[in-house]
Amino acid sequence: MNYDHFLNWNIYQIYPRSFFDSNKDGIGDLNGITAKLEHLKELGINAVWLSPCFKSPNDDNGYDISDYYDIMDEFGTMEDWKKMIDKMHLLGIRLIMDLVPNHTSTAHRYFQSSRQGKDNPYSDYYYWFDTPPNDWKAAFGGSAWQYDDLRKQYYLHSYAISQADLNWNNPMVRTEMKKIIDFWVNLGVDGFRIDVIDQISKDFSGNNGFGPHLHSYIREMFGREETKHLFTVGECGVDDEEEVINHAHPKRKELVTLFQFDHFDKARTGKFAFDKDRKYDLNRTRETLIKWQEFSQKEGLLYSIFTDNHDQPRFLSRTLDQSALRYECATMLATMFYLLKGIPFIYQGQEIGVLNSTYYDLDSYRDIEGINYFHDNEMHFSSIELMEMIANGSRDNARRPMPWSNNRNGGFSEATPWIPVNLDCEHINVENDRKAEKSIYSYYQKLLAFRKKRLFIEGTFINRTGARSNCFIYERHLNDERVLVVVNFDKPQIIHLDNSIKEVLISNYLDALHQSHRLYQPYETTVYKIN
Ligand code: GLC
Ligand code: CA
Repeated sequence: MNYDHFLNWNIYQIYPRSFFDSNKDGIGDLNGITAKLEHLKELGINAVWLSPCFKSPNDDNGYDISDYYDIMDEFGTMEDWKKMIDKMHLLGIRLIMDLVPNHTSTAHRYFQSSRQGKDNPYSDYYYWFDTPPNDWKAAFGGSAWQYDDLRKQYYLHSYAISQADLNWNNPMVRTEMKKIIDFWVNLGVDGFRIDVIDQISKDFSGNNGFGPHLHSYIREMFGREETKHLFTVGECGVDDEEEVINHAHPKRKELVTLFQFDHFDKARTGKFAFDKDRKYDLNRTRETLIKWQEFSQKEGLLYSIFTDNHDQPRFLSRTLDQSALRYECATMLATMFYLLKGIPFIYQGQEIGVLNSTYYDLDSYRDIEGINYFHDNEMHFSSIELMEMIANGSRDNARRPMPWSNNRNGGFSEATPWIPVNLDCEHINVENDRKAEKSIYSYYQKLLAFRKKRLFIEGTFINRTGARSNCFIYERHLNDERVLVVVNFDKPQIIHLDNSIKEVLISNYLDALHQSHRLYQPYETTVYKIN
């Protein structure tokens, strides 16, 4: 078995709360998604990853689930969900749901029963201790151990206090999770993105992640007859080659692919580091991409290609130096990443070059991570400094309403949105971009259609950058067909190519010449057919 048949999926991530509001309450919803599917179809998308839409108190926007079998009230009903998936399938768009197996909301009935005492059917669904066995910290600040007054013990929460970690050592927990998977598979979903998969098995004497039973648990869930056709992508902070094979080699029957994060600039000391003007170092990003391209190719693995998701500030904002070149930079990044070998993921807004918005008041933010960070650090920084850090690193940068038009609230909703819109949404929105002479959307359309060629799906990747810097040059080839992708990161520079060129296939500069020795414009990317 291999996973190559997934290579022609062009996946688009939807953050449902911020995509489109169909019923004027300021919150995106499932009917809103259904209404906008043509936008995706025309773009060239044939699969959607939907961030969680299950019942949830929303302390972490749906990643704190209180019922895995039902839809969040604000997003609609099960009927709406069925209408949505039916229309997706009609349009040839697969649906990938978001599975959150590591933790539930403390509002979930499992937890509410579990905290009652030590002898009910759910008592061992979570990790309970009289005294915390270690000093793990929670991702959103403070200790990962919380005392519960009712049970009079501590439980583990790797994220918010209201996200209690499930005890996967308990076979009943694993059975419940398989039931949840099968429920949605029976309703027709085509795959799952699995939240923090690397944390489901714990070693309390080590770090929180990659515990001793991780792989047997993954196989137990996804190595089954019922699930072997699914597309699965695990969120997994791993950069160790052997571990990548263990998770995602076809012979292991675990996952199809992983989201790795090491192509994000590693030198950052933390996501809120106080370096507002510092940009990602694309030379470093290039080296990481080359490493994984060559490795995946050698080992027969599928690589997931992405620059953005709901947890990251906009990659474009972290790269772009001069706002006048937004089109050039956005299309340069798209070409650099999406002509690599692997499965492309596009996050909502990327296709029109949405940027971060710098708000200087905490009231304009919603994300628990940034808000907790502010309060935990008030002693160490001034509030201006803290607001700079949050504007720079907040996940809310990716969560502001999708700007559709010049109408009020960027056409996202007629009511006040749950989170303030992008400050520039009157300028950067789908309507404006699609009619602009330099349209990012049109470029994405072209690129996504282009990458459906067999050459990009199956073709070999070869790095051709050599000793050059501030650029990325790579070849893709299949049999006699050869294509060269040239990406200039920033400043104009002369690049001399080793190949003779037949023709220009795609470029973000209209007048790109097919010469092997010439000056490249700022953020220029040109793709050539070569001999
Ligand atoms: C993942 C999600 C993130 C969430 C966290 C806890 O990293 O992508 O949004 O806050 O897990 O579920
Ligand atoms: Ca709504």
